[in-house]
Amino acid sequence: MKVLAINGGAQKNRNTAKMLQSALDGAAEAGASGETVHLYDLNYKGCIGCHACKLKGGSSFGRCVQKDGLTEVLEKAINADVLLLASPMYFNDVTGALRSFMERLFFPAITYNKERTPLYPHPIKAGWLFTMNAPGEFYDTFFKGIINSSNWILGPSEYTIAYGTKQFEDYSKYEADMFDVPAVTKRHEEQFPKDCEAAREMGKRLAANNDLYIGGNI
Ligand SMILES: Cc1cc2nc3c(=O)[nH]c(=O)nc-3n(C[C@H](O)[C@H](O)[C@H](O)COP(=O)(O)O)c2cc1C
Repeated sequence: MKVLAINGGAQKNRNTAKMLQSALDGAAEAGASGETVHLYDLNYKGCIGCHACKLKGGSSFGRCVQKDGLTEVLEKAINADVLLLASPMYFNDVTGALRSFMERLFFPAITYNKERTPLYPHPIKAGWLFTMNAPGEFYDTFFKGIINSSNWILGPSEYTIAYGTKQFEDYSKYEADMFDVPAVTKRHEEQFPKDCEAAREMGKRLAANNDLYIGGNI
């Protein structure tokens, strides 16, 4: 089992990266090997709508034609058994970095033919992780939209979240008096470890469950 963890957050040691690491640890417990890619370390753009990935007989059919910092990562993602994709919520969406990655990974896999069968060689199980200040369930519809696309284009997908996260190490240093700091701190101490545990379980579950490849029930 090959697992690729994609950190769509800019920070390498905060909520999102910690949850992602927990998911990767869970996958490792199930015997998978994995690595993490930090998208903010790479230079790349989103989809440019050139349609080279859809050109009949084209040399880049089913693959993104752009050659940049994402090219190697996309190839690794397509060949992974499990993808773990993590992002903080930025303005009611995933970060621009993850959004651009999704465009480059998702669009080449889809066709506009009637069957709409995705083009990647095997199903890729996907575990999504989202962190946010907002209350739980705030973004349920958004997450379900991502999971629908992910189920179709990649393979069986699920997600886990951490909400009401601690954004600042020391709230007193920032213009941030809208927050109930003791409540956020308490939540961070009590709930965030549980969120990481849920992430670990998800990573373990995705890496352990091999049924999908026996008889290809997708
Ligand atoms: C640019 C920016 C935009 C944000 N937008 C949202 C938002 O729309 N909804 C939300 O719930 N939190 C929002 N947040 C808060 C972060 O999603 C939240 O603190 C997250 O857990 C940060 O992850 P990190 O600790 O890995 O950086 C935003 C933070 C930043 C820096």
